Amino acid sequence: MNANEIRQKFLDFQVKHGHKVIPPAPLVLENDPTTLFTGSGMQPLLPYLLGQPHPEGTRLTDSQPSMRLQDIEDVGDPRHTTVFEMLGNWSLGDYFKKEQIENFFEFLTKEVGLDPEKIYVTCFIGNDKYGIPKDTEAAEIWQEVFRKAGVEAKIVEIGSAENGDKRGINQGERIFFYDDKENWWSRGGGIETTPLGDPCGPDSEVFYDFGEDKQDVAKYGKSHPASDGARFMEIGNQVFMQYKRKEDGSFEELEHKNVDFGGGLERITAASINSFDVFKISLLAPIIAKLEELSHKKYENNTDEMRIIADHLRGAYLLAAQGLVPSNKAQGYALRRLVRRAVLRALDLGIGQEFLAEILPVIETNYQDLSDDILPGRTHVLEVLTKEEAAFRKTINKGVKELRKLSADQELTGAELFKLQDTYGFPLELSVEEAYKMNIKLSDNYQDEFERALAEQRERSKTASKGMFKGGLSDTGEQTTKYHTACHLLLAALQQEIDPSIAQKGSNLTPERLRFDFNIDHKMTPEELQRVEDRVNAWIEADLPVVYAEYDKDYAFDELHAHGSFRDRYPDRVTVYAIGEGISAPDDEKTMISMEICGGPHVQHTGELGKFKITKEESSSAGVRRIKAVLE
Ligand code: ALA
Repeated sequence: MNANEIRQKFLDFQVKHGHKVIPPAPLVLENDPTTLFTGSGMQPLLPYLLGQPHPEGTRLTDSQPSMRLQDIEDVGDPRHTTVFEMLGNWSLGDYFKKEQIENFFEFLTKEVGLDPEKIYVTCFIGNDKYGIPKDTEAAEIWQEVFRKAGVEAKIVEIGSAENGDKRGINQGERIFFYDDKENWWSRGGGIETTPLGDPCGPDSEVFYDFGEDKQDVAKYGKSHPASDGARFMEIGNQVFMQYKRKEDGSFEELEHKNVDFGGGLERITAASINSFDVFKISLLAPIIAKLEELSHKKYENNTDEMRIIADHLRGAYLLAAQGLVPSNKAQGYALRRLVRRAVLRALDLGIGQEFLAEILPVIETNYQDLSDDILPGRTHVLEVLTKEEAAFRKTINKGVKELRKLSADQELTGAELFKLQDTYGFPLELSVEEAYKMNIKLSDNYQDEFERALAEQRERSKTASKGMFKGGLSDTGEQTTKYHTACHLLLAALQQEIDPSIAQKGSNLTPERLRFDFNIDHKMTPEELQRVEDRVNAWIEADLPVVYAEYDKDYAFDELHAHGSFRDRYPDRVTVYAIGEGISAPDDEKTMISMEICGGPHVQHTGELGKFKITKEESSSAGVRRIKAVLE
């Protein structure tokens, strides 16, 4: 079975089980400032997992294109990819553990045709510190499911993955209890790193066994489901999303218990053809074949390079097909990086000529089954990405020339090599290789020098991005500064006039207008908008002082109750801006109108803003509305 068939089978199967197919979200989520890309199927569903009713009901399914750039360094092994499709199904306070486990087992064994003997599962061992019980319920459901299929399934407690590496598995063992590093799911990973306010819970992962001969004890220890190595591969994760992390760090049970299931389409397809190498599946193998043809080299001898190129160009294709263009910022930069890394690897393979025009049509063919709604920019991909490739190849040529110039009379230092990388995008490895070819001498400790220059650069950009994160201002002109202060007043007015639980979900400022996104469960009425506008104007007329000071983060949140959407991402010291009648500092004992963690800059008195006018209120995404406003 190929990947397109499995995707369709999954959706049909879930429809048969009462689910509605929902369209997947774009890879670039416009209103989620917490991540660059959609990394799982649940991400766009957050508000519904937290209790808001979904218009399509309580059983949903989709296949969500997802991108996990954090895995980029692992690409090259047989199973990691940056981009993948996550098959998903959700119960929003509807069915729970039993139905979910039976559902996925049936899908794998009856629809995909996997041998039940090759399926292994894991469950959560519990956590005393937070009072989360061991998930014996899930383990016992699994045992029953395996019993009915005639498969022996002993339950064992493993704890940490390292324990498993030492212990391995014994005859008949099939259901394994692990700690929160393996079997707790939140967007932040384990229990301690679960983001505040996020839904989370114990999970039960499903693994496919490619056979004992794939075990590499010397390298990875003994194989068990959660070990590294090629024997076991995770093909699906069922999250029993029954908790929410509270602001004080503890966990409270959600009123409605949800199921969040996600399974990698690529990996399930690999299991269906019994290939531990996902690059052999229908969505990837044709790219590899084309690379073999272009490089006149064999995949078997060049697995790492070919996997990296295939993965990165597939990722670049999907991003560009959704309308993203390469740039030097955020997601656009990620796209640029994927193309560049692919081109560099192609050079390693000896593909010196431009080659994206040969590869992209192969990828396009693989994705003919995806609708134009999912890939609205597909007709532009070739143009956008081949242009990027050509530009990068030019950069490389220029880098080679610079290298020659620099080397005219003395040996090259690491700082100079860093400059080549930093200014021309000419990577260190290439410099070293070219220098060797051109017989140019490098200084003895060029590597240390390079590292030092890189560390200095990182320090500089960290400082800069801290600034960006705090304020979010791309331009700090006088007019933009006024809009920035207007945003603080607008949030305060929304909280005061409409609902104290309203929080900022994003903003964008130019010298001409502000755009402000916030959570709210309804379209605002004209009367509500008027009240908010009047409230802001009243504060402007009162010409209130805007003051700021720096505090420890915990003090700012817990004592001052300052507003800030990303508590666990802020640095330890934060700047708090406050607005209020007659105040001289944010910790003044007076009544505050607004108190936000923010990098500024702001005006000193609200009277500077002029007249505030809301020009538009519209939907931004599910549960999020957007206000546009001007200062006149
Ligand atoms: N949200 C779960 C995951 O990403 C299903 O593994």
